[in-house]
Amino acid sequence: MNILITGGAGYIGSHTARALLEQGHKVCVFDNLSRGHKEAVQRTVGLEQLTIASLHDTDRLTQVLLSEGIELVIHLAAFALVGESQTRPEMYFRNNVLGSQSLLSAMNQANVHKLIVSSTTAVYGTPRQMPITESFERAPVNQYGRTKLEMELSLEHAVSQSDLAVVALRYFNAAGAHPNGDLGEDHHPETHLIPITLQVALGQREQLEIFGDDYATPDGTCVRDYVHVCDLASAHICAMDVLSSGKVQYFNIGTGAGTSVSEVLDACRKVSGHPIPSVAGIRRSGDPDILYADNSKAVSELKWSPKYTSIEQIVETAWKWHSESPSGYRSG
Ligand SMILES: NC(=O)c1ccc[n+]([C@@H]2O[C@H](COP(=O)([O-])OP(=O)(O)OC[C@H]3O[C@@H](n4cnc5c(N)ncnc54)[C@H](O)[C@@H]3O)[C@@H](O)[C@H]2O)c1
Repeated sequence: MNILITGGAGYIGSHTARALLEQGHKVCVFDNLSRGHKEAVQRTVGLEQLTIASLHDTDRLTQVLLSEGIELVIHLAAFALVGESQTRPEMYFRNNVLGSQSLLSAMNQANVHKLIVSSTTAVYGTPRQMPITESFERAPVNQYGRTKLEMELSLEHAVSQSDLAVVALRYFNAAGAHPNGDLGEDHHPETHLIPITLQVALGQREQLEIFGDDYATPDGTCVRDYVHVCDLASAHICAMDVLSSGKVQYFNIGTGAGTSVSEVLDACRKVSGHPIPSVAGIRRSGDPDILYADNSKAVSELKWSPKYTSIEQIVETAWKWHSESPSGYRSG
């Protein structure tokens, strides 16, 4: 199939592009490189398949969809930092909501009717019960989550007006790197726990600050569902088989198990062989105690299951990437 990935120069997009290529698909990347890396595209689909442009450029999107004979779009381009979304809410609205609407309009003009999008656990906000199923109320507690909810609502409206088929994958915490060691996480600033912890092992930070150790969890630190980025990539491939006109289908993509910050830290110490000093700091506002997925819908309907089921396995791949490329893609 001819597939366009928006945000294909980013962390999850580059792994997804490689997984699709391995399945024999023709893959093009549309990315403005605001947060992504040309090198990641070079290592996957090749630079000749990269269009450097913004989602807001509807005409350019339409032209690429038509000229490349695109049959399916995988839409990952977005801003995804919770803290930044709170300080720059309009920028997030414009990029994540209006950017998605521009894509829908281009797809409509180019007669492309298949769409897989990345949504997030942040649409659920702070649920009172665990695990989280897809039927839980959508009640985001930050601007990032609100923009993804707005995107979901726009998609629901669009499918009611056309024969568009949509799968929205609500990822939990993406983690790890490609086992080859040549693709991985390289965000500026980095806000994700595993890269930050491994930066201490690499001597790039003095210590890990743990944001609160008095949560209602067994060891007092927050519990999250870390899902390997290659497992996220394979979920998109599974999703291609269930696309069905006139519907938005939602799936949680997580392992179904929670891991605490202390457990992640222990895994990073064990894998890197470094003591990784840590200090308990104060809580960040709005961090729920525990979040993990009920992934049974993805398992039964998408026939998806995560291959990386232990935090140590996930950290091993991240460590390979970060230790071999300590400056990320700039390491060459
Ligand atoms: N990383 C996670 O844990 C996580 C969890 C849940 C959902 N998500 C979602 O997954 C998607 C990918 O996340 P990621 O971690 O790979 O992020 P990323 O920042 O690494 O990748 C996003 C890519 O989109 C591009 N982009 C952003 N705005 C654009 C625009 N207007 N036009 C063209 N390109 C644009 C960036 O340059 C970047 O390459 C996002 O939609 C994010 O909201 C991520």
